[in-house]
Amino acid sequence: KILILDFGSQFTQLIARRLRELNVYCEIQPCTKPIPENDATLKGIILSGSPFSVNDPKAPKPDVKAMAERYPVLAVCYGAQFIAHLYGGEVGKSSTREYGRAHLRDVKHTPLFATIADESQVWMSHSDTIKSLPAGFDIIATTDNIPVAAFRSGADFAKHDVYGIQFHPEVTHSTDGGQLLKNFIVDICGCKQDWTPAAFIGETVARIKAQVGNNKVVMALSGGVDSTVAAMLINRAIGDNLYCIFVDNGLLRKDEFQQVLDGYKHLGLNTQGIDAHERFYRELAGVSDPEKKRKIIGRLFIEVFHEEGVKIKDVNFLGQGTIYPDVIESMSVHGPSATIKSHHNVGGLPEIMNLSLVEPLRALFKDEVRRVGRELGIDEIFIGRHPFPGPGLGIRILGAVEESKVKMLQEADAIYIQHLRDSGWYHKVWQAGAILLPVQSVGVMGDERTYEFTCALRAVTSVDGMTADWSHLPYDLLAKISNDIINKVRGINRVVYDISSKPPATIEWE
Ligand code: XMP
Repeated sequence: KILILDFGSQFTQLIARRLRELNVYCEIQPCTKPIPENDATLKGIILSGSPFSVNDPKAPKPDVKAMAERYPVLAVCYGAQFIAHLYGGEVGKSSTREYGRAHLRDVKHTPLFATIADESQVWMSHSDTIKSLPAGFDIIATTDNIPVAAFRSGADFAKHDVYGIQFHPEVTHSTDGGQLLKNFIVDICGCKQDWTPAAFIGETVARIKAQVGNNKVVMALSGGVDSTVAAMLINRAIGDNLYCIFVDNGLLRKDEFQQVLDGYKHLGLNTQGIDAHERFYRELAGVSDPEKKRKIIGRLFIEVFHEEGVKIKDVNFLGQGTIYPDVIESMSVHGPSATIKSHHNVGGLPEIMNLSLVEPLRALFKDEVRRVGRELGIDEIFIGRHPFPGPGLGIRILGAVEESKVKMLQEADAIYIQHLRDSGWYHKVWQAGAILLPVQSVGVMGDERTYEFTCALRAVTSVDGMTADWSHLPYDLLAKISNDIINKVRGINRVVYDISSKPPATIEWE
């Protein structure tokens, strides 16, 4: 595997993703955390970029020479400047700042640039630049604007080579970036490209067996892809000693409780469905503040799960569908504290129930979870599902939740989603849903004046939900959806389409 030392760049996760795409396993750790002592699987180290300047006294300064005594090192952007600065070169503000496209010149024949030639397009994003290198280091590429676009350490610096590159190989605008990373991890570090979904499943099932043994694991399922894939892996390892609980909070989509429950049974998961919708409606009655609604829904979920969980005797473990972005989000550059962000709807449970965690997807990105899910034979219905928030329709009914409004919204939402599926748009948007507004307006149906609710439709494109743009659904599709909703759903006489992007809006309305 490859270890990526994170100096805080927004691109760090992207490096990890590129390596995984090359079927090489990697992990990210804060740059302040020591390199593991006895890890025979570790083959090389990559230092990421950073928002720091090397001249900032607070900038972290790990011992790269010591690393290079043990492994080949590739340093990207800040990582490269940092090495140049630390070992006697000069880094300073450049007269021309370099952002965006540049082309390599004077590329030297080295293992890193094997098959990569002059003119290769690379992506730059830096204001400091390397002005001179430590003694013995060689420049191995330049660009029109900067003298040191890439360097290699001298033969007497350390046992292994240290490469530094000023550009970002992980972004797709660096045309040969993937090739360069492959040259480093495969040819220079000697990693095998054998990290496939099937290999992951084999290793993970063995690891879960070793961790759990003959004990029992309890787990909450949500119908989403992460918890489903995690449950299937645990089920492969321990069979019916995995007890899954799926709670109907009354805020799921139309017919979803039964459909998902049937899906789980079909997958062979030992699942119990708990219908708790009345309890949720009762406690939500009259509450319109979004954060209060979220807290109530979260608390009730934990209560219900706990009550059911303790009925299963002798449980020691809690299964969770935590994925890699959740883990990374909780790491900081300065604190090597890898505290785990608790899954929104089971937060606090492990402590109350005194359980250890089983988190088979902790190392995976979302698209990798999907690949593993497909390899496990899980239906596309689960794998291709849009994200859906834990509090469900509870935060898509603006204002207080009432059963009649839930029914109304479920109908409108079901019509909307069905149209997206039928038109082929479902998989082109990242997330979609209907929102019931607390606004009544005048309409006319037949000869009658109506005074009914407004439904907003939301569909967004996004990569990770952090930023999003509204989907440009065709007018004729919107027309059909609007007609259908107004004709079929009693209580709604007006449909609007949300054309706000995030930021400054958010995906959900509450
Ligand atoms: P926003 O509205 O913040 O949503 O742009 C970003 C993503 O997060 C989901 N979301 C939630 N998920 N509990 C969840 O589990 C929540 O309270 C919650 N609020 C928003 C939202 O659906 C979108 O995918």
